[in-house]
Amino acid sequence: MSEENSQVGYPAPNVTPNITRLTPYRHGKSIQEVERELGITGMIKLASNENSLGPSPLAIEAMQAYSGKMHLYPDAGTYDLQQFLAAKLNVDPEGLVFGNGSDDVIHLVGITFLNEGDEVVQAHPSFVRYEAAATLNNCACHLVPLTSDWIHDLDAMLAAVNEKTRIVFITNPNNPTGTIVGKQALDAFLDALPERVIAVIDEAYHEYAAPDPDYPDCLPYVREGKNVVLLRTFSKAFGLAGLRIGYGITRPEIASWLNRTREPFNVNLMAQAAAIAAAADTAHVERTVAVNEAGKQQFYHALASFGLSYAPTYGNFIWFDTGRDSKQVYSKLLYAGVITRTGDIFGAPTYLRVTIGTEAENAKFLNALPEVLAAIPTAE
Ligand SMILES: Cc1ncc(COP(=O)(O)O)c(C=O)c1O
Repeated sequence: MSEENSQVGYPAPNVTPNITRLTPYRHGKSIQEVERELGITGMIKLASNENSLGPSPLAIEAMQAYSGKMHLYPDAGTYDLQQFLAAKLNVDPEGLVFGNGSDDVIHLVGITFLNEGDEVVQAHPSFVRYEAAATLNNCACHLVPLTSDWIHDLDAMLAAVNEKTRIVFITNPNNPTGTIVGKQALDAFLDALPERVIAVIDEAYHEYAAPDPDYPDCLPYVREGKNVVLLRTFSKAFGLAGLRIGYGITRPEIASWLNRTREPFNVNLMAQAAAIAAAADTAHVERTVAVNEAGKQQFYHALASFGLSYAPTYGNFIWFDTGRDSKQVYSKLLYAGVITRTGDIFGAPTYLRVTIGTEAENAKFLNALPEVLAAIPTAE
């Protein structure tokens, strides 16, 4: 805040330069926000890659069972969930780190392992929170463009690694493009990466991609003791975005540093209980993935029939070129009752990212799209 903006009589707060370089996170608009602003009802949100089926009924039951216990602090060690997931994933329980969403784990990795002047490498466009972690810790973040197929360019990312590099972020599947890197490419990349560099492999959309044989299983990297942190979340396929719980899977030494930085009660009581129930409900995840697969085909078919090019997706969202200023497309879609995400924040101003929802939600969007596009001039 500048001197002029500060309240009369009070000095401007002393904000450190790294904080002044941070930009507030631009979250997708909520349904309530848009309905209030436009004075309409019946909006649907296909903007934040949430699970339209909602949480597992077993997770809802667990939350209800715990609602009467909210006077208690949560377990600071998230022990029950830690044991459950370690057994499920066949990893050392001491290598699991829990966060208030996987965002929190990204933040922890940054403040734990970055010193002023260190460098970070990530793909672009990709998830925006990695750069924020670099900036917060006074570090440069190298944004390495994706290939023309919207895939991580691992050779170029390796070329961007230098003696100052401490962390490389790989997003698999990538947000906003839904693309993946395969096992061979990832093996070669990790083999060539200097050992002191931590590779953070963000698998927020893991459950959607996991059935595909081209999607790599990264747990062996952790079991082999590589400098790798895998990020997973309960916000996407598990339908618990509002509860805020995610985790890192790494080797115990890395986890022990992250756990020192972590706030002791960063994962609330209800989240710990619901996450175990959600993780145990494999049928709900299977249903979620099946609905998503059907939705993908619905999108592919419609977008192709409109002559629009899209990136085949391994996540629960689709990235496609509207051929026009997608902010205008976004605005008109709001009036048609659908909230989406524009590509400009990812440096692709004609692209739109749309979450794959239920069949009816997808149809609402796809039925509205041709008329919206027809009303907006194509980009040069
Ligand atoms: C790639 C990626 N990583 C991490 C996150 C953060 O998810 P959460 O903090 O809800 O676990 C998201 C959310 O959109 C994401 O797309």
